Amino acid sequence: MRFKGKVVLVTGAARGIGRAIADAFAGEGAKVVINDINEEAAKAAAEEIKKAGGEAIGIRADVTDYESVKKMVEEIKNVYGTVDILVNNAGYWTIKLFKDTAPEEWERDIRICYYGTLNCTHAVIKDMIEKKYGRVINIVSDAGRIGEPYLAVYSGAKAAIVGFSKALAKEVARYNITVNCIAAGVTKTPGVEGFLKSVGGEEKLIKAYPRGRLGLPEDIANGVIFFASDESEYITGQIISISGGYTTVG
Ligand SMILES: NC(=O)c1ccc[n+]([C@@H]2O[C@H](COP(=O)([O-])OP(=O)(O)OC[C@H]3O[C@@H](n4cnc5c(N)ncnc54)[C@H](O)[C@@H]3O)[C@@H](O)[C@H]2O)c1
Repeated sequence: MRFKGKVVLVTGAARGIGRAIADAFAGEGAKVVINDINEEAAKAAAEEIKKAGGEAIGIRADVTDYESVKKMVEEIKNVYGTVDILVNNAGYWTIKLFKDTAPEEWERDIRICYYGTLNCTHAVIKDMIEKKYGRVINIVSDAGRIGEPYLAVYSGAKAAIVGFSKALAKEVARYNITVNCIAAGVTKTPGVEGFLKSVGGEEKLIKAYPRGRLGLPEDIANGVIFFASDESEYITGQIISISGGYTTVG
């Protein structure tokens, strides 16, 4: 029970990677907030965690909307107290060649990935500074490090989160707050099904993955638990790739 009593906010946690992260923290005794834009799914996920013996609530907020995020953070304070650990996981990607994309699509990718991270981090960081404790873990993508065709705008949005995380890490390190990123490789979630189809299926893609399989949401959750743990308290402004050897940049 490494996170007993800690308040953990995971965005976009009704399904996929976010859900696995929420499950992992609940299993370690945390009070978990399942945020999602899909209210019904967020609340259903929280109920499932409670049935399994964990502590969780589901709250709807659109991470692209600062007012909606601030309202959620106030609600969390009333129920559990201030957020100790924030996992910016909500994301969205348009799969098209850049030449075929429209400005509304750039806006969607950038707003959910980058503004979502800015909004949620800004809404909790002052409380973390006050408490002299905090962990911010941003789920990015190897696309933001090596660039992926058909995902150009998303690649840029994720790279922006990496730059932001490194700068923020330096601003808040003195307050015992760490800010780190996990760059996921292709990970099997409901959201990635369209991408798998567009590249010709899982079997084709696996060939590029030295480990011989695609990622599972639990693989990403394991990295998040590490960055949230006391064992990583001297590690900040870093990015690790969890991709079975697909991406090996330094
Ligand atoms: N799955 C992969 O292969 C992969 C690879 C690299 C990075 N990632 C990143 O991991 C994260 C999770 O991906 P996933 O595959 O689990 O996605 P997913 O689509 O399966 O789940 C995303 C969740 O976010 C929620 N969401 C979307 N917009 C939201 C908003 N505005 N406010 C709040 N919630 C919102 C959705 O309702 C959904 O429940 C994303 O940031 C994604 O970019 C995923």
